[in-house]
Amino acid sequence: MQPIGIFDSGYGGLTIMQEIVKKLPQYDYIYVGDNARSPYGSRSFETVYRYTLEAVKWLFAQDCHLVILACNTASAKALRTIQQNDLPKIAPNKRVLGIIRPVTECIGNFSKTNNIAIFATSGTVSSNSYPIEIEKFFPNVKVEQEACPLWVPLVENGEYDSPGADFFIKKHIDALMSRNNKVDTFVLGCTHYPLLFSKISKYTPEGVKIVSQGNIVAESLSKYLQNHPEMDEKVTKTGKRYFCTTESADIFNRLASDLYGSPIEGKQISLEKPEKLKYFI
Ligand code: DGL
Repeated sequence: MQPIGIFDSGYGGLTIMQEIVKKLPQYDYIYVGDNARSPYGSRSFETVYRYTLEAVKWLFAQDCHLVILACNTASAKALRTIQQNDLPKIAPNKRVLGIIRPVTECIGNFSKTNNIAIFATSGTVSSNSYPIEIEKFFPNVKVEQEACPLWVPLVENGEYDSPGADFFIKKHIDALMSRNNKVDTFVLGCTHYPLLFSKISKYTPEGVKIVSQGNIVAESLSKYLQNHPEMDEKVTKTGKRYFCTTESADIFNRLASDLYGSPIEGKQISLEKPEKLKYFI
């Protein structure tokens, strides 16, 4: 068993995994949500880097050769250091990919006014990863960012559909539009946000497109595997899915199943001990 590893701070990466599995059902996957330490969004660079590296090492210990950081905060704060400093030392033939780059490569094509908004965690916004990357591909696009620190806790606490969520969603959309009313494309730059989609669309001005990352990331992974047959060969293809969490499995299973849209039986793991679990053999 040599699955593709998918990592997020909590439940949000399930929205990415859903799209990846839809597009590439033949592969095996292990999902890891660090729910016990989520949210990552307001944590320091060092902390997000340390937690993410632990998760990557743990997934490598389960024989993953390819790991997707299905978390913008981890992609913004930890990916580059892991790719440049850690991988050459710990696993030169393994790969870790993030989810910001695939979006920035195509997002300029969605906007007619060349004005795009990124809604994300404080960590992703302060890293400036989106504006820096978008500028490389679409230098004429103006990028507005809005940090929404309470949107992830609404999801992690199962409040994503509650009336209380409306207040915080409207607040950030209004704040962004009042800074730049030419924006015609919203990027949900946090993997938790698709779970707030119906409320976000309720407060989105007419004519503005809402772009989630899932299918963009799935498309990009599919191309990556086509272009890297040496990696494609290493990933096993028996259609298995495993779900792991650093929280109690009972707590995880309930919300994860709701969010994923089919029953999930997760297993509680500890990221500090990167040993191979029998469960995955
Ligand atoms: N879902 C993650 C992201 O895409 C992070 C959420 C968090 O832990 O703050 O940014």
